[in-house]
Amino acid sequence: MRRLKKKFSPIRFIQVLSLIFPMILFLYVTPVSAVEAYPAFDPEARFHPAFARQGMVVSESVYATRAGLEVLKEGGNAVDAAVTAGFTMAVTYPRAGSLGGGGFMLIYLPGTNEAAAIDYREKAPGAARSSMYLNEKGEVDGEKSRHGMIAAGVPGTVAGLALALDKYGTITLERALRPAIDLAENGFPADEELIRSLSRVKERMKASPESMKIFFKDGGESYAAGEPLIQKDLGRTLRQIAESGPDAFYEGAVAEKITGFMKEEGGLITKKDLASYEALVRKPVRGSYRGYDIYSMPPPSSGGVLLIEMLNMLEGFPLGTYGHNSTRTIHVMAECMKLAYADRSMYLGDPDFVDVPVSRLISKDYARGLSAGIDPERATPSDRISPGGTAPREGGNTTHFSVIDKWGNAVSNTYTLNFSYGSGITVPGTGILLNNEMDDFSITPGVPNAYGLTGGEYNALAPGKRMLSSMTPTIVLRDGKPFLITGSVGGSLIITTVLQVLTNVIDFGMNIAEAAYAVRVHHQWLPDELRTERGLNADTIRLLSDMGYSVVTGDTMGSAQSIVKIGDYIYGTTDPRRPGGLAEGY
Ligand code: GLY
Repeated sequence: MRRLKKKFSPIRFIQVLSLIFPMILFLYVTPVSAVEAYPAFDPEARFHPAFARQGMVVSESVYATRAGLEVLKEGGNAVDAAVTAGFTMAVTYPRAGSLGGGGFMLIYLPGTNEAAAIDYREKAPGAARSSMYLNEKGEVDGEKSRHGMIAAGVPGTVAGLALALDKYGTITLERALRPAIDLAENGFPADEELIRSLSRVKERMKASPESMKIFFKDGGESYAAGEPLIQKDLGRTLRQIAESGPDAFYEGAVAEKITGFMKEEGGLITKKDLASYEALVRKPVRGSYRGYDIYSMPPPSSGGVLLIEMLNMLEGFPLGTYGHNSTRTIHVMAECMKLAYADRSMYLGDPDFVDVPVSRLISKDYARGLSAGIDPERATPSDRISPGGTAPREGGNTTHFSVIDKWGNAVSNTYTLNFSYGSGITVPGTGILLNNEMDDFSITPGVPNAYGLTGGEYNALAPGKRMLSSMTPTIVLRDGKPFLITGSVGGSLIITTVLQVLTNVIDFGMNIAEAAYAVRVHHQWLPDELRTERGLNADTIRLLSDMGYSVVTGDTMGSAQSIVKIGDYIYGTTDPRRPGGLAEGY
């Protein structure tokens, strides 16, 4: 049969085009939006996340973000970038990032399906005893556990970052330290955030002439914005680590200076404490929430266990239907928070010293039992959950950064000196600020620490033991791939901050910037108060008060540094609660 040759018709051509064009447009613009359960990146959203395709670093320091990103662009992986960022912040973010502190790094490598939790938490020196932190009346003396020479635990940061690089990285320690050495030796311009944070601790720092010499000008005058902060001694310390590895810090020239200073000034850290310090690779705690896999930090952090315990309880409530920050949502969240923080006070501590019932605490059955007791109409008074207490408040000054690379490897790292600039004491000749982490022990069971957290025997001080932490570096997977990488600062507020970043994304469909910016709430069982940031509407506060909550509206809570990966696209955001951070990708 002969095929009829059709004549070209312009009208027909336009008709066909008008059918095909919308289809092409649909396929072109919808690879992320229509096919994903997670709401699309919405250019009309109130807040705009950073956006990239290959890799991203989000941290509280512009220098650290850029140093990490440079490593990613050179072909390094997420661990290389994280270690580089971590060392850089020891120079550019001294309020939390010093080599004299400790922390946790969570790593997920999709290629090997491997997740690792690097524990580089500080340890109690061998000579430490609870009685050293009491006054003559036998009460805990915060001055001793927070501000003096005996406040410092054995630092873990150098060991932890070096271990992460050695086991999971691809670049040399020397390369990872290069930006930090450069910034320490040649300086970087002080910004308002650095100057302001230093002015807040100036009185405390006056006890350390070495700190005053580094962080203030002669005569104690503050640096002006734009003036360079040069840290020559710190530069030398970093060079020694680059040349001789972590041994320089734990056994070599730096160790000599630290232990010499301890001897002179009545500190506790000895050569043996430093030489025997080890960072550890632990198995992350793992849970699930509405189809997402959650990896987080195991003990000696309480963060991961509490996060999963709270998520398990919340899974039984349709938060998405209740609405973000509605009275019902906040009520259910606050009740779950109270139950989890009560468990924290009893059951959490260093797993090398006490038997933490992790699997029970993160089991769905256990959570169902707990949440079954939540009264939908009334707040449960904290003293009906467990014995009560009151607490002072001090700001937590930890820092978090998140990294993802072009292979989908993800790193979530939180580390700290405890308070802003730790104890405020710098070891002469090293540029190293000392942590004041001993206050995170439960020195006297039942007596709250600086965050108002009470503890029991599980977190009692013992030589060589790691103090319990709230740091919660977290990686959420969807379909086996990193989806959300987050963590926060904020002492006891860290865990509830991370919880709300997760629920804001998963339950309330926020983009990552909206999730980070949204008003937060916090309850930690003791004291029995529901804390909220400003911006929660007055009607909700009134309804919560009517339900029996003591609502306290005040300061901002936490500072989350987060990344979300959807399909080929990476979105990230630094938290506006602290200026000076940067989310940047390529
Ligand atoms: N120093 C605060 C924490 O580790 O939770």
